[in-house]
Formats: sequence, structure tokens, C-alpha cells
Amino acid sequence: GSGRRPLVAGNWKMNGTRASLATVEGIRDGLSPALLEKIDVLICPPATLISSCVAATYGSPIAIGGQNLHARPSGAFTGSISAEMLADLGAKYVIVGHSERRAYHHETDDGVHAKALGARRAGLCGIICVGETMEEREQGRALSIVRAQLAIGIPKGATAQDTVIAYEPVWAIGSGRTPTPAEIAEVHASLREMLDKLVGEEAAKIRILYGGSVKPGNARELMAVENVDGALVGGASLVAEDFLGICNAY
Ligand code: G3P
Repeated sequence: GSGRRPLVAGNWKMNGTRASLATVEGIRDGLSPALLEKIDVLICPPATLISSCVAATYGSPIAIGGQNLHARPSGAFTGSISAEMLADLGAKYVIVGHSERRAYHHETDDGVHAKALGARRAGLCGIICVGETMEEREQGRALSIVRAQLAIGIPKGATAQDTVIAYEPVWAIGSGRTPTPAEIAEVHASLREMLDKLVGEEAAKIRILYGGSVKPGNARELMAVENVDGALVGGASLVAEDFLGICNAY
């Protein structure tokens, strides 16, 4: 094996109110101790639910994370939330540079880098997202796009403690379409080689997740792909049974 402990992470996006705490409780109660010996589990609810999700998973190994952050620790940035604030609530991870943030909030690779530094400053693990559009894939540019996103986004001296990478092809997100295992293997191998160049020996310990239409029905096949160290799950993380089905692929 790779020696890397798999991470199954749920990204709820802008979904969920206090009623959704039942989902976190369902996930908490449905994870077997045997499974939790093998994998790490993370839920990233909207910021409004972080505190109550942390309380609901108190004493369980499930981690709670944010979906976004402001790069600065504090200041006159109305409506923004810093890494320190997320950490203060008990968050352990934060998603950085999700393709929806890049597309709808004009986040650049440099901006992603600044946010990843912010996450690390506050002691959070940043999940840096990379991924090509369908147009870029058709132009044969998928590898060069994701390699550049990784190279610019990742902090110097990144470690497995403070950094996770997630490959999410934009065209696979929420679409029900996924790359073939061979296509995923090609990208993950390329990202791993790039990581090697960027951080040296530590690269072998840094996890690279796959995200984009991961469901209970395809999780086993996708998670078995070489260099895939877990999943970043959107839609299927909103239903406890579905998310548990994905975790149980391990
Ligand atoms: O961050 C996870 C996400 O973008 C994938 O979404 O709904 O395709 O699993 P979904």
C-alpha cells in the first residue's frame, strides 16, 4: 500500500440548516469502529453549522471543516471568515480553491495560495482543489492545467499535516459523469510527480483525493485507482446513507 490513510470528505456546499444535524448524527452513528481504524472522515458543512456539527461529533473521530476562508487573520472584510475563526470553532480542515469558488468568486491560483497559507497559519489542514474544464480536457491541456494549479496553490514546505490535494474535474462535479479509472490514474500520477518536485520526500505522505460525482455505486472502483487517497463528495454527502455507502467502499 501507499501508507497514506484514506480520507473521505463531504462538502455540503450551500446546503443545510439546523435540521441537517440529523445527517451528521446519522453518519456518526453509522460508522463502524473497524472502519474508523482504517480511514479519516470529514464533513464540511456551511459555516453556520460548524459549531453544532463539532458538538454533534464530540468524542468521535469525525472531523469538521470549513468550505472557504479569507486569507487574512482578521480585519475590515465584511462577511468573510478567517482560518483562525474556523479553528476557534473546532474545525480541523478547510477546502481551498474549490472550482465553484474559482468560477463564481473569481479565485485565482495566487488567491488559492494565499488562502492555503492562511489555513496553515491557523493550524488547519487546507484541501487544495484543482481540476480542468471539459474544454481544457478536449484541448489536451488537463495535465498542464492541474499541475500549474497545484504548483502555484501549494505553500512552500507543505506537509501531509497541513495539506491535502483534491482533483475535481469541473465537468464531473454534480454532473453524474466521471472520468474513467485510467483518466483519473493519469492525472493523479502526474499530480504526485509534481508534488515530488514541489515538496520532495514529504510528497509521498500527502493525500490526493478524487472528487466529482462520487456515489455509493462507483466509490469502490474510483477509490481503488492508484494514487487515489480518498474522496471529496458533494451531493452524496447530504444523505447519511449515501455518504456511509461511500465510506464503506474501504
Ligand atoms: O467538492 C465536492 C464536489 O465538488 C463534488 O460534487 O456533487 O459531484 O459529488 P458532487
